[in-house]
Amino acid sequence: MNWNALRRLRERFLAFEQRSGAEADRTDYWRSHSELASYDFTFGERIGWKWDTVLDELKLRGWTPPEGAVLDWGCGTGVAGRRVAQAWPQQRLLLSDRSHPAQNFAAARARAAFPGLTVQFAAADCAPELLVLSHVINELTPEALERLLGLASKAQAVLWVEPGTHESSRKLIAVRERLLARFRGIAPCPHAAACGMLAPGNERHWCHHFARVPGYVHTDPGWGRFAQTLEIDLSSVPFSFLVLDRRPALAAPCSREARVIGVPRHYKGYAKVLSCQADGVKELVLQKRDAPELLKAMKKAPGSLYQWEREGEKIRGGERIF
Ligand SMILES: C[S@@+](CC[C@H](N)C(=O)[O-])C[C@H]1O[C@@H](n2cnc3c(N)ncnc32)[C@H](O)[C@@H]1O
Repeated sequence: MNWNALRRLRERFLAFEQRSGAEADRTDYWRSHSELASYDFTFGERIGWKWDTVLDELKLRGWTPPEGAVLDWGCGTGVAGRRVAQAWPQQRLLLSDRSHPAQNFAAARARAAFPGLTVQFAAADCAPELLVLSHVINELTPEALERLLGLASKAQAVLWVEPGTHESSRKLIAVRERLLARFRGIAPCPHAAACGMLAPGNERHWCHHFARVPGYVHTDPGWGRFAQTLEIDLSSVPFSFLVLDRRPALAAPCSREARVIGVPRHYKGYAKVLSCQADGVKELVLQKRDAPELLKAMKKAPGSLYQWEREGEKIRGGERIF
């Protein structure tokens, strides 16, 4: 494992979070094959858990990707494209990154993992059916983001996963608002209205969720060393995401769905949940006396999507969907 490279990459990624797009770094930062391999094995795999969580939800909801080419843009080592190919067998995976070593690495990994898959480098003017984006938004200049949104507008569907920080989430919300003219929002929003986070008073909040981390990670010595060396908490892997589709809807969306933002906060006898639904982002209260089983289940394993029975800001009952 190239620990020095991982430390350097982490510092760089944290610095990207602090900068505005105008100050984005325009240079290729991947230095060596060992750096790419170390990233893919650690940070990349951790990003893979975020993708698994998103893809599991989409599968549960019966969403399937459009047929045709999948483009993993800003692919790095290609974890996102591979996770998508794992979730739904694909015929053609296109890869694009300003870094040629990263593109080559991603192509080799994808070919090894999926021998039947056609893996190609994307042409500049390609128009994929499915556009896959992962952890790129903080590295883009405003011009690069504009070009990317132009590419997104040509796709049938977009799957986009970013870190679960205030900065990244707010950027992704701005993208959603732009692209909603052409696309239907599939997730995370359980409604088609403007993002409730943009309502006055919600400035301090951001739309983030937590990945389902595989159990073995907490006892695996290798992951333990990674967590300790890089001071990363592996039990909490926040992310933000966006799924857009412009194919005609097969079924009307369920208007009673609600998305939990972050995780519920538990107190003695009740929990508070920041919940997003058709009537906006609201702080709801779940009292133990109203729905003891729901509160208990939520404490044990907080879900991300629910159908609440509500009275104003009070949750009287509900059912977990995911
Ligand atoms: C943090 S890495 C994420 C890589 C991968 N998508 C993942 O989730 O692991 C960001 C990637 O975006 C690429 N990138 C940054 N700016 C780019 C641009 N303007 N055009 C193409 N690729 C870019 C970088 O080279 C890097 O590989």
